[in-house]
Amino acid sequence: MDSLLNKEDMETVLDILDEGIQVVNCDGVIVYCNEAAADLDSLKKEEVIGSHILEIYPSLTKETSTLLEVLKTGKAIYHYQQDFLNYKGSKITTINSTIPLNKNGLLVGALELSRNITQVRELSERLVDLQEKMYAQKAAGPQAVKGTARYVFDDIIGESPEIYELKHKAMKAADTNSSVIVYGNTGTGKELVVQAIHNTSGRRDHPFIAQNCAAIPTALLESILFGTVKGSFTGADHRPGLFELANNGTLFLDEINSMPMELQAKLLRVLEEKFIRRVGDIKTRAIDVRIIAAMNMDPFQAVQEKKLREDLFYRLNVVSLRLPDLMERKKDFPVLLAHFIDKFNRKLDKKVVGVCQEALDYLRNHSWPGNVRELENIIEGTMNVMDGQWIQVEDLPYYLQKRKKCKEELLAEIPDGERFSFKELMSTMERKVITKVYHRTGGNITKTADRLSMPRQTLQYRLAKLGIATEDKEE
Ligand SMILES: Nc1ncnc2c1ncn2[C@@H]1O[C@H](COP(=O)(O)OP(=O)(O)OP(=O)(O)O)[C@@H](O)[C@H]1O
Ligand SMILES: [Mg+2]
Repeated sequence: MDSLLNKEDMETVLDILDEGIQVVNCDGVIVYCNEAAADLDSLKKEEVIGSHILEIYPSLTKETSTLLEVLKTGKAIYHYQQDFLNYKGSKITTINSTIPLNKNGLLVGALELSRNITQVRELSERLVDLQEKMYAQKAAGPQAVKGTARYVFDDIIGESPEIYELKHKAMKAADTNSSVIVYGNTGTGKELVVQAIHNTSGRRDHPFIAQNCAAIPTALLESILFGTVKGSFTGADHRPGLFELANNGTLFLDEINSMPMELQAKLLRVLEEKFIRRVGDIKTRAIDVRIIAAMNMDPFQAVQEKKLREDLFYRLNVVSLRLPDLMERKKDFPVLLAHFIDKFNRKLDKKVVGVCQEALDYLRNHSWPGNVRELENIIEGTMNVMDGQWIQVEDLPYYLQKRKKCKEELLAEIPDGERFSFKELMSTMERKVITKVYHRTGGNITKTADRLSMPRQTLQYRLAKLGIATEDKEE
């Protein structure tokens, strides 16, 4: 590495990074910054280097600058949200990790990595503002707040016992004010169920607000949920949080297992005390909000893996609804298929009647990792481009057709119009199939045998017979 990258190369690499990097000496003077850090300040690198940190960030103080704090304490600060005005007066929000730099046991400076989340913050705030405006129209009548939760129980298609039981349980939950956890893999219909519960509950004429908790830095998510007061660089003096906006209604917290732990603790407190305090405020506000949380893993597992606080889990898990994978309810396949064909006939102005037997076999044999969403997307995509009335294998997406291609490739091995040895051809085909699957599994005999639905010993015998060198890589 040393011989490959010289100092200039390293500087170029650091300048390409999206993260800002700044280094200050023990007096707080900037001795290095990359392009991204200079961009944050709307300055050029040359203008930044050699200046004191507070000259470049006039809105920061000795107390609020993370770099100066680290110089004072000698202790690292990780993932801290910093709001400041840059040299040009633009409001910038970053997430910083700041570490002390020591030489021979002496503190000589500090280094800071900054991720600019200004745009994320602005978009989130705009969303909160829009929701606020929308619900402010409540005066125009309850209908004005409808439309945010579109789905009702009739939209949940399925005749399997699993879906029947799920709907029954969810309808009962809709009659109460209890918290609910909805969990299941991607595309299984969690959002559908959550909205249906709200729309059937006594809160249906009040707001339904959804917030995804994934990938939002702690401090930002906190201000989105609880609101802010003046001085928090939020653009408005006072901004209500989603809890306030959802008052008397339902707050849907999606991917709650991605919510940072410290925020989960605050959420628990709100649920228990039933009041919130905006960030930076001393006043508390009473709220009456029903919480429905969703996640794509088993909540017990989330607790075990420390992704969900145990106390919050018990508080939320009054009712828990598990959404089965599509593969677990194959009985629903025909009704879902008919439902989506009907939906896209209307939407795309088509007259598709159904799926031909061969294409249906392909669909039935697919493993559906994306569940109902994947089925819906496949039907939509297929119906967009097809001409006939029946969906054929050729109309299906390429990745579903691959199996057919594979079959055709093998059949193409049959010599046309000349004599051939059946035994030899079968042996060639056998070799091709086994070698391909063996390589695809990374040389794992157990997996190869499993995929070929063949006993392990049989596979080993055939591998030896075909002279395929094996080096079993079992896990
Ligand atoms: N039982 C169902 N009947 C009809 N449509 C369904 C059903 N389940 C899911 N869908 C459709 O599948 C799509 C995905 O559903 P939804 O958004 O509720 O999934 P999700 O479980 O929230 O997934 P993710 O974890 O990825 O957010 C939606 O377009 C929805 O209409
Ligand atoms: Mg969802």
